[in-house]
Amino acid sequence: MSSGLQKLVQSKLSEVNEWPLLSAFLLLTGALTFTKYALKTIAFLSQTFILPGHNLKKFGAKKGAWAVVTGASDGIGREFSIQLAQAGYNILLVARNNRMLGDVAAAISEKCGSSVETRIELVDFSKNDEASYANLKTVLAGMDVGVLVNCVGRSYDMPTYFAEADEKLMDDIITINVAGTVRVTRAILPGMVARKRGLILNLGSFAGSVPSPMLATYSGTKAFVSTFSDALAEEVKGHSIVVEHLNTYFVVSKMSNIKRPSLFVPTPKAYVRSALSKIGSPCGAAFTNRPATSTPYWGHALLDWAIHVVGWKQLFISHTHGLHTDIRRRALRKIAREAKKE
Ligand SMILES: NC(=O)c1ccc[n+]([C@@H]2O[C@H](COP(=O)([O-])OP(=O)(O)OC[C@H]3O[C@@H](n4cnc5c(N)ncnc54)[C@H](OP(=O)(O)O)[C@@H]3O)[C@@H](O)[C@H]2O)c1
Repeated sequence: MSSGLQKLVQSKLSEVNEWPLLSAFLLLTGALTFTKYALKTIAFLSQTFILPGHNLKKFGAKKGAWAVVTGASDGIGREFSIQLAQAGYNILLVARNNRMLGDVAAAISEKCGSSVETRIELVDFSKNDEASYANLKTVLAGMDVGVLVNCVGRSYDMPTYFAEADEKLMDDIITINVAGTVRVTRAILPGMVARKRGLILNLGSFAGSVPSPMLATYSGTKAFVSTFSDALAEEVKGHSIVVEHLNTYFVVSKMSNIKRPSLFVPTPKAYVRSALSKIGSPCGAAFTNRPATSTPYWGHALLDWAIHVVGWKQLFISHTHGLHTDIRRRALRKIAREAKKE
């Protein structure tokens, strides 16, 4: 050690000796903070990349149980329907478009043969009407429902400032995302409680935990889904029912308007494979005070860890605002180009 450095170390040590209590306090605080971050990071890495989730058999797979999937005709819901059928559930497909739901049923029958039964229930969740929910309850009455995936969701057609947003669209977003989730869950949960088993997966979004400028209403509804799931999970865990809020960043779909997968944007197939293999495991949401939340896809988990453990939330809000401004600009340009062509 050079003599200069030696002097510096000696002077620092003598300072420590002058303030022994303060020094011990600072050392302890530093050690505790480091340990906390290290444990959160180890939990995130091991849950995301190594440890498996609950086995789906726990919720009645291959024993005649049904999985009910809302928003089953397209995107993530379509993929949940197919992969849950492959895991051994009969599937009740719920959405508006009979032809597309029929295609999903045909894809299931092609992959699973006659071992799996499918049924279609047409519901327009934006109507929030008593007759649809009464029909749904009648269909559900004779079913042993092991899994519910509340996947139906509506977002903006393009990012828009709230002051300029279409009022009917805002109503639809709230009705579909909030009332749809609450009412379908209410119709199914009593049966799960009676059977003392069940899995409820609620499709959430990063927009629910990180405020999403220019998608304010969507963001608020997804915050509802997150808090609703946390509260419900605690209510029913004594009945062996798992409620999970799936915290989701972009996935290739009609809603995201993203057509090609990339590092942080999986296909619905890859996303659903992660979700179903990590049931009950928080992954990217580990130790971030969101008890029922899971961020199962590894790219999303990495972002969630950066936002909540490293603490980049404000940065992410500003980034999202910039991203949405850009998406809106490009969407408006495309509309103008197409209008010129006509
Ligand atoms: N894709 C993403 O990047 C992303 C990110 C975060 C969270 N999420 C969430 O994931 C869920 C699924 O999104 P996705 O990307 O798979 O969307 P999607 O491809 O647009 O599919 C939406 C599904 O919801 C159904 N649906 C829409 N409006 C309906 C209504 N009024 N009544 C009944 N069904 C209706 C659609 O079926 P019909 O039109 O045939 O009825 C379709 O089956 C949503 O809750 C969304 O918020 C998605």
